[in-house]
Amino acid sequence: MKKEKLLVTSALTYANGKLHIGHVAGSYLNADIFVRYQKLIENDVIYIGGTDDYGTPISLKAEEEGVSPKVIAERYNQSMKKDLEGINIQLDNFSGTSRPRHIEISQDFFTNLLEAGYVTKKTLKQLYDKKYKRFLADRYIEGICPHCKAEGARGDQCDSCGKLIDAINLIEPKSKISGKTPVIKETTHWYLNLPKFEEELRTWLSTKTYWKDNVRNFIFSWLNEGLKERAITRDLNWGVPIPLENTKGKVLYVWFEAPIGYISSTQEWAEKKGKPDLWKDYWLNPETKLIHFLGKDNIPFHTIIWPSVLMKQKEPYILPYDVPANEFLNLEGQKMSTSRNWTVWVEDFLKYFDGEYLRFYLAANAPESKDSDFYWKDFQAKINNELNNILGNLANRTFIFAKKYFDGKISKPDNLSEYSKKTLKEADKLAGYIGKSYNNYQVRKATRLLMDIARSGNKYFDETQPWVEIKNNKAKAEETLFVCMELLRIISILYSPIIPKSMKKLRKMMNLNKKILWKNLGKIPGKFEIGKVSQLFQKIEDSEIKKQLELLKATQKGRKEMIKHKEEIEYDDFSKLEFRIVKILEAGKIEKSNKLIKLKISIGGEERTAVAGISQSYEPEGLIGKKVAMLINLKPRKVMGVESQAMILSAEDDGKFAVLVPDKEVKSGSEIL
Ligand code: MF3
Ligand code: ZN
Repeated sequence: MKKEKLLVTSALTYANGKLHIGHVAGSYLNADIFVRYQKLIENDVIYIGGTDDYGTPISLKAEEEGVSPKVIAERYNQSMKKDLEGINIQLDNFSGTSRPRHIEISQDFFTNLLEAGYVTKKTLKQLYDKKYKRFLADRYIEGICPHCKAEGARGDQCDSCGKLIDAINLIEPKSKISGKTPVIKETTHWYLNLPKFEEELRTWLSTKTYWKDNVRNFIFSWLNEGLKERAITRDLNWGVPIPLENTKGKVLYVWFEAPIGYISSTQEWAEKKGKPDLWKDYWLNPETKLIHFLGKDNIPFHTIIWPSVLMKQKEPYILPYDVPANEFLNLEGQKMSTSRNWTVWVEDFLKYFDGEYLRFYLAANAPESKDSDFYWKDFQAKINNELNNILGNLANRTFIFAKKYFDGKISKPDNLSEYSKKTLKEADKLAGYIGKSYNNYQVRKATRLLMDIARSGNKYFDETQPWVEIKNNKAKAEETLFVCMELLRIISILYSPIIPKSMKKLRKMMNLNKKILWKNLGKIPGKFEIGKVSQLFQKIEDSEIKKQLELLKATQKGRKEMIKHKEEIEYDDFSKLEFRIVKILEAGKIEKSNKLIKLKISIGGEERTAVAGISQSYEPEGLIGKKVAMLINLKPRKVMGVESQAMILSAEDDGKFAVLVPDKEVKSGSEIL
């Protein structure tokens, strides 16, 4: 069969934060699995990605931190690259759009469109922040969506209905930098004349009958509403400068130049390989299938605007062959939100679990045709009940048995029983379906069918009862082990796109070839020889999941917690309390207690002893010399043998303590009123 040439991309991630499970489920894992499968069937495939460094998400973050946007872009480019490697997402190149090569090619693209007559200059009215003297592009503005009336729509797109928005049409717009209602002011911008592309787009899109339904529906509802001219420039200082005279303070719109990043990243790849022209072999080669993996909010940009831009370049760029878009992944039944910290960061996940588990769970639970949910308890169940109890168990029992009775060496029997033949044939049939599923981006289905093979292996093992046969008919027991090992061999190929590291480990235990190829599926070996074996997977304990749920809730931001208040008191009750600032003279641990610190304090000239339960948050030495707030007229109490004659005041936040200190220098003994 002729080798296919494929160019696969994952949507370039905004470089304004770390990688989280939403990114992985949306456009990375599905692409990586697809690419790994293409490599298994020996197609010529490259996998390209990087960060989307421009755009308002990055400059907003930079303003928040008071650093330059380039610092933010570099930081998160590095961190994402590392986290992707951590979960074995194997891109051929991971670039960033703020690199010089990208700037140059984006400017060329703009110039070509302008010269070909597809870009027009216009004067228009835009929202302007008077306080900060700035036009408010895209995410610098929020309001109510003019289409679906959802709140929190941004100046460029509404997250609720997915439609693109012209900021001027937002209802009740508010500036994100000043919080004020903006005014309207005139400015100049360059527009991509999309209506002029309509016919060509329709003709091209009509050949895409094989695209996923969710993608096609989206596009056609868009086309049928009628295409409008779209501004492809912005008044911002972070972005690719417009390559025209007298345009200071104006840059290309991020959504115009970001997809060009797929090309600049491929160029970077070619250069690194020492063959700087190799990128043309893909981008300018009509044989290449260009496949963009992305989340559903990216559909219009990749299927309407991006192809239009590609169509009118001087060189004959290929157009997207397919745009497999995923829906969204929710977390514990709620929409994921990075600003509220309602997500799972890959970096954090990897502190507790193997990246393979994330791959497996997100593959089994991919938001392919509708939104799906990440539930920690479900994650645990999938890992324990499937990876461990089905696949891990098949490997474990087969290997242990083979080691014990056959020294790990199992030969192919001359004649296989009908049941054995049927079991292998069934697996072979499933392998065919699994290949098709990979090719059609049906990762969920592939995961499920694969588990079916392992499940049938366990059933076969149970029913052929090798532990009985070993006493009566050793050859029969060996046959069972042979068939199970053959299933494991097939699985090690078939599952390798989803859990590559574990399958490599499995193959190593079985002394199988390092290079994994699909064409070897049918090549039954004459014998197996098991090497050193170990557990393939580990079970996840309830306590580990409880911890994750606690962490998730504890770090969640912006959740309005209802505080339970105490009953109202009279002023007289309050005035009985004597609070003063005291100086800590000495501090030491109280033995046999992991909470308490013994303090010697001075209130003016008077010295007292106090016991404070704050040692989870303070080292005693760090407290010496501090002036802190205390309640000093509470009846003395004995705590672990020490009399406490004053009570320290401290704020408690999730089990952590912060003692209260005056915000200006005051003398010890000062009363708190
Ligand atoms: N950064 C965009 C997002 O996260 C995706 C950009 S994809 C590209 O939604 F094609 F424009 F690069
Ligand atoms: Zn909307």
